[in-house]
Amino acid sequence: MKKTFFIYCLSLMVFIAVPSWAADGKALVKSNKCGSCHKMQGPAVKTIAEVLKRKAPDLFYAGSKFNKDWLVKYIQSPTVIRPGGVVYTNNIKLNGDQDEPANLLKCASKLSAGDAAAVGDYLMSLKDATMKVGVFKKAKIKKAMARRVMMKGEACNACHSFPKRGGGVSCPTFEGIGSRLNPDWMYSFVNHPQKWDPKVWMAKRDLDDATLQLIVNFLSSMK
Ligand code: HEC
Ligand code: HEC
Repeated sequence: MKKTFFIYCLSLMVFIAVPSWAADGKALVKSNKCGSCHKMQGPAVKTIAEVLKRKAPDLFYAGSKFNKDWLVKYIQSPTVIRPGGVVYTNNIKLNGDQDEPANLLKCASKLSAGDAAAVGDYLMSLKDATMKVGVFKKAKIKKAMARRVMMKGEACNACHSFPKRGGGVSCPTFEGIGSRLNPDWMYSFVNHPQKWDPKVWMAKRDLDDATLQLIVNFLSSMK
């Protein structure tokens, strides 16, 4: 009797001790219900009706999309990236001259630094194996030329907002995008948005490699 009680106490101690040093990112994603808003498993939705019901950005390829330092900070205290909401047609009524709709759904993640590190490790392991890496070539570019291509030629600012220069509110802001996103992913997304999100309303353009490098270098510089 004494012996079994001793073993019982011992196993209880081990059980209590484990979570403090081995926070499991995947379990934390589950217990924090991230999946109640974010899609945590692929594939992406394939119909417009499903896109319109999307509450939050897909996270099942987070490891290809984000820069880890940014990600770990963001899930401790999220900010607004999409001023018109994830699907702007669901939030179209704006708040007077403010950019934010009154009923904007914000990210509910409020992880402690320790939990954010574990969740960050887990999210960074969710990679899309088909994405080419090492495609982006960091180079010194003429920012005025990049702006001309993006604001005059391609009208990226119809949907995206440029730091200090403004633009559309229906999509993620470019403010700080260089800190947020992996340049190889940006290259892949701008080249072919529908590879990632088959019904996304950003058009596929026929941009050559030099133009894509110019654009992604410019986006990467917006820290
Ligand atoms: C109530 C719904 C909700 C829950 C729960 C939630 N989020 Fe979010 N999350 C959002 C929304 C909405 C956004 C988009 C915010 C924006 O763009 O302004 C977002 C954005 C994000 C982003 C940035 C994505 C991108 O592509 O820009 C990350 C990373 C993220 N959430 C992680 C998490 C994690 C990790 C959890 C769980 C700990 C979580 N979220 C729980 C609604 C939610
Ligand atoms: C018709 C509107 C529209 C135009 C014009 C447009 N985009 Fe987008 N863009 C989108 C949408 C929609 C998304 C995905 C939104 C989301 O993740 O919530 C997106 C996402 C992106 C992303 C990923 C952003 C992120 O923060 O997650 C990048 C990078 C991007 N666009 C670059 C560009 C560039 C460069 C141009 C011009 C060549 C451009 N876009 C033009 C609608 C547009």
